[in-house]
Amino acid sequence: MPDTTPRGLTRLAFGGDYNPEQWPESVWQEDVRLMREAGVTMVSVGIFSWALLEPSPGTYDFGWLDRLLDLLHEHGVRVDLGTPTVVPPVWFYRAHPEALPVTAEGVRYEFGSRAAVCHSNADYRAAAARITTALAERYGSHPALALWHVHNEYGVPVSACYCDSCAAHFRRWLAAAYGTVDAVNEAWGTAFWGQRYTDFEQISPPRLTPATVNPAQALDYKRFADATMRENFRMERDILHRLSPGVPVTTNFMTALSQCDSVDYWAWGREVDLVTNDHYLITDGRRTHVNLAMAADLTRSVAGGAPWLLLEHSTSGVNWQPRNPAKAPGQMARNSLAHVARGSEGAMFFQWRQSRRGAEKFHSAMVPHGGTGTRVWREVVELGSFVDALAEIRGTRTDADVAVLWDWHSWWAQTLDWRPSVDHDARERADAFYEALYDRHLTVDFAHPEADVSRYPLVVVPALYLMTEAAGRNLTAYVEGGGTLVVSYFSGIVDEHDAVHEGAYPGPLRDVLGLTVEEFSPLLPGERVRITGPDGTELGADVWTEFVVPRGADTVLAYADGPAAGLPAVTRHRLGEGTAWYVSTRLGADGLDTLLGRAAADARIAPRPDLPRDVEVVRRTGESGTYLFAVNHTGADAKVPLEVPGTELLTGERAAGRLAVPAGAVRVVRLDG
Ligand code: GAL
Repeated sequence: MPDTTPRGLTRLAFGGDYNPEQWPESVWQEDVRLMREAGVTMVSVGIFSWALLEPSPGTYDFGWLDRLLDLLHEHGVRVDLGTPTVVPPVWFYRAHPEALPVTAEGVRYEFGSRAAVCHSNADYRAAAARITTALAERYGSHPALALWHVHNEYGVPVSACYCDSCAAHFRRWLAAAYGTVDAVNEAWGTAFWGQRYTDFEQISPPRLTPATVNPAQALDYKRFADATMRENFRMERDILHRLSPGVPVTTNFMTALSQCDSVDYWAWGREVDLVTNDHYLITDGRRTHVNLAMAADLTRSVAGGAPWLLLEHSTSGVNWQPRNPAKAPGQMARNSLAHVARGSEGAMFFQWRQSRRGAEKFHSAMVPHGGTGTRVWREVVELGSFVDALAEIRGTRTDADVAVLWDWHSWWAQTLDWRPSVDHDARERADAFYEALYDRHLTVDFAHPEADVSRYPLVVVPALYLMTEAAGRNLTAYVEGGGTLVVSYFSGIVDEHDAVHEGAYPGPLRDVLGLTVEEFSPLLPGERVRITGPDGTELGADVWTEFVVPRGADTVLAYADGPAAGLPAVTRHRLGEGTAWYVSTRLGADGLDTLLGRAAADARIAPRPDLPRDVEVVRRTGESGTYLFAVNHTGADAKVPLEVPGTELLTGERAAGRLAVPAGAVRVVRLDG
């Protein structure tokens, strides 16, 4: 059994992607000296090094990597070693041009960037297996080796290839999944628009078509593309397990929904020994630390609640967004420790030394262009000084209050063409509900719709358009057993093949919600509706309305105007020991807060202490103790109540009563007892 923690790492992981091949070897000596100064414990090496390691077919040059790993080992830095299969060398592409992926429009990508890989291509698979084998044979028992890092961010930026090899592979995948072509016809509803197939050979990827392509075909292609990447991951992982036993294998995920939309991380989480994630702040005007918290919670959930590792984030600005602000003083530490609070066993960066050449020279790094006389470097060294102080939290798990249901397949289905409104977006609803829970200081676990959620007092379904009958039964049993469920509109509409459930909407949720929905009536841009209740509550909403017919549920708020005027907008249904809420329109932040406040009361979730909205409080618990993390994202000093006294790990001071958290600071208290 491979271990699930980086071998030989006894503290938090702190370091970054290290690309020394961009520098003369004389710089390496300075690198290791500075790594010690900063308290670096682990670096990621070799992710993009295939062209250097195998300069011509079958000829390897390992000399530089031998020297590098030995040097890192001498300096006590552990190594996360990449398999460089995300960028094959140019000689490979010149020999196998069909390994370059093709877009749905039929355009083949060129060499000269990165991640141009057709995952169905047999020559690519064979070459990837060879370089992985060569690396594993050479370094599989190197004393510096802590972790294997397969490939890089599967699914980004190429989410699927549409070439002929993929077409053939897709047909094999369909044959294995469905058995007969008639089963495909049935699942895809090919009776519609005369798309009936009589042989698997007739089926293509969903390439460019004049009107929208068959949605079930498009959905299956997303599943196929994801599964194909996973086949290649497994192929490399199995080689590494065989030749390098005991060393865990990972591949870096990108769970932020705004950064990768093509990978089903529920499935991937089961394949890796250790879940690792890359996260970059998206500066779109929203609160970046909320997006960070959401990605961290999703990563932990994908890891099944087990500790995971932040493998990349940035010390300051990135360079691939339209505008890339520098991080504010202290923000890097807040970001890093917020990930740790939510389960990461460290904080790693892209990258160690800022490049002088190439596409990412304006991306921040641990050692910036300006060298060690800079604020970034001073903050890196300060953060590194926490690595020892926090070592004891390793292995503890983040406590969660609430489960939010999320399913990549449902998101994929919902984003296909020709839905009732382009303004409805499952990701937007997930973000909005998450933010409303964050603002109530509730910690979120994400869960698959068919997962056992009985331990959570409150389960929230932001937008689950695709839902199986099994998921519906799961949620019904959850409520009957005493749970509180909140479901947002356009959920439970189709099955796993994007076929509308039989009977009225929302198929598998009708019984638990105690209602049916007769029609959707989305709103036009700028159009808003008011929803009101007998207690004087009045909320605004937009984007979506529905004609809801209660069948057991009580109307809590009704539409005061708009297409559904007079009909229920928010309902509450008592079923068994529990309660199910339904909201049929898009509530803003105030509406979500009202709704979740009432549902939290049903769930008997105790109100949180009166804290400013942007003071984040999260706990990790385990054998070594209970740790309270307080991250102050505001510009004002804050006080966080402690039920029991404790020791603050970053300052070493005792804390009791109300913990002082200065503006912009982080505090981590080991609670007594
Ligand atoms: C990541 C990638 C790194 C680097 C970084 C820049 O997605 O894995 O190699 O490109 O982005 O932010």
